[in-house]
Amino acid sequence: MRRLAAGNWKMNGMSDDLEQVTELVAAHPRPDCDMVLCLPATLIGRGAERAAGSALEIGAQDCHVRPNGAHTGDLSAPMLHDAGARYVIVGHSERRADHAETDSLVRAKALAALMENMTPIICVGETRAEREAGRALEVVHAQVQGSVPRGAEYGGVMSDRLVIAYEPVWAIGTGLTPTLAEIAEVHDSLRALLAEHHGPYSVGVRLLYGGSVKPSNAEGIFALKNVNGALVGGASLKAAEFARIVAALAQAQSLAGIGGA
Ligand code: PGA
Repeated sequence: MRRLAAGNWKMNGMSDDLEQVTELVAAHPRPDCDMVLCLPATLIGRGAERAAGSALEIGAQDCHVRPNGAHTGDLSAPMLHDAGARYVIVGHSERRADHAETDSLVRAKALAALMENMTPIICVGETRAEREAGRALEVVHAQVQGSVPRGAEYGGVMSDRLVIAYEPVWAIGTGLTPTLAEIAEVHDSLRALLAEHHGPYSVGVRLLYGGSVKPSNAEGIFALKNVNGALVGGASLKAAEFARIVAALAQAQSLAGIGGA
């Protein structure tokens, strides 16, 4: 499968920062992995214009479940697609916390994205307290079961258009990361869970790790068997830094061999 380096700018970015999009496009004209920047909605259209014809895709950070209607301030998947977004993050822990988003809402948003031929990046992850209580796997499995649409719900043929990001809440923006063994444990168990519950639909699903990924720790994380890419917050804001993470992922992809794990 083709690995994915996804950047998440969160509530950051002004017109001047679009220069980072241009720089990233120049740094990686044809990377050996997929690459997307999920921009704030205000920059999606102009970001997509700058990335047009390049290997960089532009994504959004959330979408509404409905295609249109009386929902002041919300943006639908068709609107985001129309603006140039091809990916959309759904169920990020900051949205789960700030907007009380539930698994079933996240699942509906993921379906709305799939119906619009966009790739949802569905986020899951345990809190510090849940990990310390030994409940990390249980919590993450329950979120995946509740948030990931079943193959049958969307026709099932496009499992490479489903992306799941494991992001421990306590590792986001903190500089803390789980050990490589802890990341591997979650990713291996998610791969097995998907195979058990989604069967052949799950083969192409990409499992990203997210939470304080930076150039200095990317190589070790990307060497893990069931880590198929990363969702990167802070380190995606500067093209030079994100480009190094993309390079590490492309390197991992080529080490695994074309079409390899
Ligand atoms: P971070 O954020 O890389 O700044 O920790 C990751 C995320 O929230 O997607």
